[in-house]
Amino acid sequence: MGDSKTTARLTIDGKDFELPVLAGTTGPDVIDIRKLYGQAGVFTYDPGFTSTASCDSTITYIDGEKGELLHRGYPIDQLAEKSHFLEVCYLLLYGELPTAAQLEDFEERVTRHTMLHEQMMYLFRGYRRDAHPMAIMVGVVGALSAFYHDSTDITDPWQREVASIRMIAKMPTIAAMAFKYTLGQPFVYPRNDLDYASNFMRMCFAVPAEDYEVNPILSRAMDRIFTLHADHEQNASTSTVRLASSSGANPFACIAAGIACLWGPAHGGANQACLEMLREIGSVDRIPEYLARAKDKDDDFRLMGFGHRVYKNFDPRAKVMKQSADEVLELLGIEDNPTLQVAKALEKAALEDDYFVDKKLFPNVDFYSGIILEAMGFPTSMFTPIFAVSRTIGWISQWKEMISDPQLKIGRPRQLYHGETLRDYIDIENR
Ligand code: SDX
Repeated sequence: MGDSKTTARLTIDGKDFELPVLAGTTGPDVIDIRKLYGQAGVFTYDPGFTSTASCDSTITYIDGEKGELLHRGYPIDQLAEKSHFLEVCYLLLYGELPTAAQLEDFEERVTRHTMLHEQMMYLFRGYRRDAHPMAIMVGVVGALSAFYHDSTDITDPWQREVASIRMIAKMPTIAAMAFKYTLGQPFVYPRNDLDYASNFMRMCFAVPAEDYEVNPILSRAMDRIFTLHADHEQNASTSTVRLASSSGANPFACIAAGIACLWGPAHGGANQACLEMLREIGSVDRIPEYLARAKDKDDDFRLMGFGHRVYKNFDPRAKVMKQSADEVLELLGIEDNPTLQVAKALEKAALEDDYFVDKKLFPNVDFYSGIILEAMGFPTSMFTPIFAVSRTIGWISQWKEMISDPQLKIGRPRQLYHGETLRDYIDIENR
């Protein structure tokens, strides 16, 4: 927690209250209101957390005006170009880039935990075949706590470490199995001689009758998608994980809560919603109609994959994702992909439209990711599970940071109450 160098003065009914102002290493200062209620008897009101820092963190920094995203200080475009997902996992979890020996050890530890307890297979069978893979993931990830009792004691640093490694390792297996289950195909077990992304793709696309040759271009693109989604400071699902964890709940249950939150179309579900929207628009000549709908307050339609709470200039991940979409489609020889054409024309039209310019609405990470995933052969229902696989490291790193903090307190927001005041119970015959 940064030292307070200045104070802010709040005047209520003529009475002054001094509030410490804390500075981080970069970014806006924060007014420390923790003692405000005790001193002044008032709460602050900020339902969507638009002006509230919910924690003190050292993991990820976003400058929304500059379109900058840093993990432990390293810019996302450098990590996407030069690093790879497991190295970024190490960075997020432990704070520094690994040496070659540290990376080798980390990769081996992750690889040794990729399998699921065999009895967990029966859990999948309890779901309808037409279940959304996210529905399966919420349940199966929560159920990890029923199978791995030796890593649920959050007061034990060794158990916390094992739980972290288990989740990074098992999440691709769970997502791939959820996919296979909905296809009605047999599960494909992990293969530890493959890298993280290749192993995931093989578990999704191999069948017992025919193995799957992993295309290195596609596995590199997959790895980049994982890297670009790895963490994003206090977004809705991460905040959900932190709030759930603040009660002392076990890490598997908390990550399941994060997956549930991620599923919504305003958050991680936007990648599925975006591709469905692009397909619905279908051709460039229909773009004006959809832009008009997005601007119409009486119409619920919004441009999926557009807008962001923090980015007010551009989302640096979207830039890399757009470039990656171009590369992947070119390498696959499908440059004239109609969805990509609609996406590019829609982006251009929106960025020239006063409504989107004035409201600072730009393509976000989800705008182009679906086009790459579709080209790889994934159905739209797998887009959000793939986001969940990627974001698991962010959730775990933030969870680990939070529960190692000696100042940890259970999260307990207060409210502005507008309901009935005290009244007497009325017997049913008199109502
Ligand atoms: C992710 O937070 C994170 O970091 C999330 C994420 C991560 O990595 O964890 O980056 C991942 O969730 C990306 C966002 C995916 N969601 C979408 O693409 C869905 C479409 N976008 C939105 O619904 C919206 O832009 C949000 C949810 C992303 C941001 O919502 P805010 O900050 O609450 O902003 P808002 O909804 O209040 O919008 C401000 C104005 C409104 O107009 P006014 O009421 O001021 O007139 O902009 C308008 C909105 O109606 N607006 C849009 C729009 N997004 C906002 N209008 C048309 N189309 C849109 N997409």
